[in-house]
This record gives sequence, structure tokens and C-alpha cells, in this order.
Amino acid sequence: MKFLILQHPGHNRVYYNAADKLALAELKIASTKLSVTIQNLAIEEIARVRYLTFESDTPLNDDDFIIISRLSFIFAIYSLEGDMLSPIEAFPYHYVNPKIGTLLKYHGKTNELFTKMMVNIAMLSSDYTLHDTIEMLDPCCGRGTTLFEGAVYGYNSYGVELDLKAVQEGTLYFKKFLEEERYKHKTDSRQVAGTSKADATYIYEFEYTKSKKETVQKRFGMICGDTQEMAKYFKNNRFHLIIGDLPYGIYHHNTRDERAMRNPSELLEVSLSEWCKVLKQGGIIALAWNSFLVSRVKLVELFEAKGFEVLSSEAYCELEHMVDRSIKRDVLVARKV
Ligand SMILES: C[S@@+](CC[C@H](N)C(=O)[O-])C[C@H]1O[C@@H](n2cnc3c(N)ncnc32)[C@H](O)[C@@H]1O
Repeated sequence: MKFLILQHPGHNRVYYNAADKLALAELKIASTKLSVTIQNLAIEEIARVRYLTFESDTPLNDDDFIIISRLSFIFAIYSLEGDMLSPIEAFPYHYVNPKIGTLLKYHGKTNELFTKMMVNIAMLSSDYTLHDTIEMLDPCCGRGTTLFEGAVYGYNSYGVELDLKAVQEGTLYFKKFLEEERYKHKTDSRQVAGTSKADATYIYEFEYTKSKKETVQKRFGMICGDTQEMAKYFKNNRFHLIIGDLPYGIYHHNTRDERAMRNPSELLEVSLSEWCKVLKQGGIIALAWNSFLVSRVKLVELFEAKGFEVLSSEAYCELEHMVDRSIKRDVLVARKV
């Protein structure tokens, strides 16, 4: 059977000419986790409308449709038999309403469709499945875009960010969202590191459920702290996924903190060992960075020196794209072996 995917209208706005390349790369990575083998992945024009297409000789199961429905570029999926297009019902995979990632706008925000793609790629590249309870960490989370995308999938999502204002705004926005959407929730703030008041580091944490009937609470937390101290904030081997958009060497939150200005390789040199401690075996680190500042080769060297396996099949090397004149963004995906 042949399947046609209509791309999200916002997808082109994020990637300009690279939209097709990125969509195909994400689909190729997803295809490795499907129960069936899919072939002939392509971009096709049918009746003057562009679709991403693929074929499968065997029927897809529910998990396959969940994986496909979650792809960041999906708008609608059809099956094609003869000349007949039949819409395939979208799978309701959300725990939190996906609009959470779209409402908060600010300078320096990582685009939410791009973030969703990183979350998908990380999850699909890890040793874990759709049915595991996923703990996810963004080591430089800004106001929380990655954490919101994680919450959409029902992941327990945590972030660390140097800028207090960003943490305050992110947690306030999450609280308001839970209130407006009538989630049952409680909040807590407690010290996670430091021996005196002056060097104390705090976590702002939420436990929430959609209804009173649910017995398992979801968790969401933000720490105003330094990512190179990560192992002080969280237990070893806690997270399945570490996903983040590394600093671009630009002041985003009017911060005067020089630590926020490190280029990506400097930040990784001082932080990667700490991140590795809190990541589970078989877990994935997926990071976006400005490849004008540091080459892929340099980052691969850094990861390999720490014992990571950098994923480098064709699809993983197809993710680079221009954001603006000063930012060429790429994504590196590495597995803790
Ligand atoms: C590209 S921005 C991430 C934006 C985020 N994804 C969002 O959408 O809000 C990188 C972030 O890393 C933070 N950062 C830089 N150095 C850091 C450090 N040492 N520890 C924690 N956060 C850091 C910066 O303050 C900045 O907010």
C-alpha cells in the first residue's frame, strides 16, 4: 500500500528549502522503529500538491501509526489505492495539548516544530519504546520549549537554565497552562544543591495529572543552575533522553552571565561528562548547535572521546539547515553505550 503525507504548513517556514530534506530524514529515522519495512520514501507531486510518500507491503500496526502521527512535519496522512485517497485517522497520542508549545513567544525561542523533531529523533534512536515511562532532560532549557514538547508526549521533563528570568517565566507559563486546562497539579520548590544560602540551587517542580482518577503523576521541573553541575542536581542514570539547543553565542535573555556565552564546544568540554552521568545506558543525547561556530567533526571527536557512539548513518547527516544569516543549525545524535 502507498501512503501520502501532507506536510504541516508551518514546516516550510522553519526550514525554507531544507524542509523536504529534513522531513525525509526524520521519516527515515522513524522507519527503523516501525514493525514493517517501508520503501520508496520520496517527495511526489500529485494533482499539483506535494506529498511525502512511502510504500509498505505489509499492514502497519497501531504503534507504527502512533510513530508516524507524531512526526514533526505531519499535517494529514492518506492511503492511496488506485486513484482513491482515503484519510487515515490521526492517532490521539497527546498527554498535554500540543498548543502548549506554540503560545509562548519570545526572542531566542527554539522553534517548536524543530524541537519536536529533535524529541522524536532522540526517542526513535534510543533503546526505549513508546511504552516506557520516559524521563527527559534539556541541559540548557531557556523558557522550556523542549520540556513542553516532552509533556505533550507524557514524558517527565526537566530542564536546567542559567537565566533565572527564563526559569521564572517558563514555570509561570506552565502553571497557568495547567490551571487553564484544568489539570490536577501541585507545585514544589526545594533546594537541590549548595551548602549555604548564597550558593543554593533550587528546583521548581510540578506533579500533575489530567484527572483525579489517574494514579501516576507526570512531572515537570526547572532548575536555575549551571549545566556543568548537572550530576549535583540529578541522580546518576536517571534520564532516557537529553535534548537541547546549545547557546548560539548571542545574548538572548539580556543575561550578562559570561557562562551563557560559551561556544558549543567549550560548553560541551566542561559539561559532557556530567550529562553522561545522569543519562541511562542506551539513552540518547540529541543536541542542536550552530555549525558556523563549531564543525560537526569537532563535536563528534568530543563525544567519541567521552565514549559515546555518534549516530552517523545517512539520515543523521541530513539535518543541517540555515536559520538566518549567522546561524546554520545542525543536530548531533549520540548514544550512551
Ligand atoms: C539556544 S538557547 C535555548 C533556548 C530554548 N530551547 C528555548 O526555546 O527557550 C540556549 C540556552 O542555554 C543557556 N545556557 C548557556 N550556558 C548555560 C549553562 N552553563 N548552564 C545552563 N544554561 C546555559 C542560555 O542561557 C540559553 O537560554
